[in-house]
Amino acid sequence: MNLNAAVMGLQWGDEGKGKVIDYLAHEFNVVVRYQGGHNAGHTIYYQGKKIVLHLLPAGIFSENTISVIGNGVVVNPLQLLKEFEEVKANGVILRNLELSIHAPLILPVHQELDIIFENSRYVKIGTTRRGIGPAYEDLTGRRAIFVRDLFDKDQFYKKAKPLNDYYNQRIRTSTNGGKEIPIESYIDDYINAGQVLKYFARNTVYTLNRYFREGKRILFEGAQGALLDIHFGTYPFVTSSNPTIGGICTGTGLSHKALGKTIGIAKAYTTRVGGGPFPSELFSDEADFLREKGNEYGATTGRPRRVGWLDLVALKYAIMINGIDEVFITKLDVLDEFDEINVVTAYETSNGEKNQIFDPAIDYLEQVKPALHPFKGWKKNISDINNYNDLPREARDYINFIEEYTGVPLQYISVGSERHQTIRR
Ligand code: GDP
Ligand code: IMO
Ligand code: MG
Repeated sequence: MNLNAAVMGLQWGDEGKGKVIDYLAHEFNVVVRYQGGHNAGHTIYYQGKKIVLHLLPAGIFSENTISVIGNGVVVNPLQLLKEFEEVKANGVILRNLELSIHAPLILPVHQELDIIFENSRYVKIGTTRRGIGPAYEDLTGRRAIFVRDLFDKDQFYKKAKPLNDYYNQRIRTSTNGGKEIPIESYIDDYINAGQVLKYFARNTVYTLNRYFREGKRILFEGAQGALLDIHFGTYPFVTSSNPTIGGICTGTGLSHKALGKTIGIAKAYTTRVGGGPFPSELFSDEADFLREKGNEYGATTGRPRRVGWLDLVALKYAIMINGIDEVFITKLDVLDEFDEINVVTAYETSNGEKNQIFDPAIDYLEQVKPALHPFKGWKKNISDINNYNDLPREARDYINFIEEYTGVPLQYISVGSERHQTIRR
């Protein structure tokens, strides 16, 4: 096998991908985002300062690492420029960045449509309202405008004007909010952004394949998580892309031969932002305690995250569909103060049967009752521990149980948000 690695979330996002990528990046030559857009919020600590990245790969802070935004990412050019300024203010020189010319654009009307669709739903998805869904809809609808279209104003206008008019017409007749956005109000901003982005724009399908041939080590940075996948997640409470393994090939132009090791990231418990089924969800005091201890507020929208116990049925499903080789478990330290910690080992269905099947259909997941396996808490601060054997026995029991249940080694254990707070086994 080659020395590349694919890193992806195994739950409903926010597993700590930013921290993990930042931790691993120095071992790689290239870090690539392959799907999603600025719905992602990947938190990293750089020189003691907290930074949240939405579009830029989290390898941007590793000197000499090439950061690539692949063709599968939906790009809001103005957001990207904003992030350039933010990382530049933190001392990053954007020398080694590549942006795919084939990445679809998010237009201002996409954001309005996102709001309208959301307002019109009986049960809300709770999207990030960034225009992600409508931009991917235009891609599959064969109407998308791409990064490459930003470099020629006439070309951009010809393509974007009819689309923009069409959507404005829909917005005008909508009873669910949203405002019309004339193309004239943003075309110059987009074209000017294009002049800056041109410097970074590449046919990344070719550059990535060249890096692969040259033996450069490539790290794939997933956004969102397996249970938010458009095909394998809890539809319709999902995002509009493939955070799972297949998204890497379609979002980069690299074949399966380039994938390397697959590292899945899971929190030591579970969180979810927005609507949708969540069998192990906690409520009331226990939930409040976990949310506060884990600081579970969205990195992109600031929304409080729903919280619950680790769901091993769901985790095993995510491991299965992605062919995960190793798990990187995060936020174990958040469980330090619990007397008792639980994990879900099975689901009990409405007809009294027990099984270990994560069928993402919401009719199924909404009626299952989780069967819990209790653990004694370790009641000790573990955030300074950097050796596996120094972890309290109860914490090691927890880790061992997860490994046995899933059949996959928990190769890394994160005990804090900083890069060094990581145990490698
Ligand atoms: P991502 O979207 O997967 O990159 O995750 P987010 O950045 O949205 O959310 C993860 C949050 O947990 C961030 O605030 C991280 O700084 C924090 N974090 C990551 N790993 C750990 C850990 O092991 N312990 C603690 N306490 N916080 C962590
Ligand atoms: P990272 O990369 C957590 C969720 C939204 C909503 C659903 C659809 O930081 O883990 P969208 O705006 O994508 O159409 O919203 O997906 N969602 C995320 N939840 N982390 C994310 O990204 C998310 N990106 C989207 O909350 O439920
Ligand atoms: Mg996040």
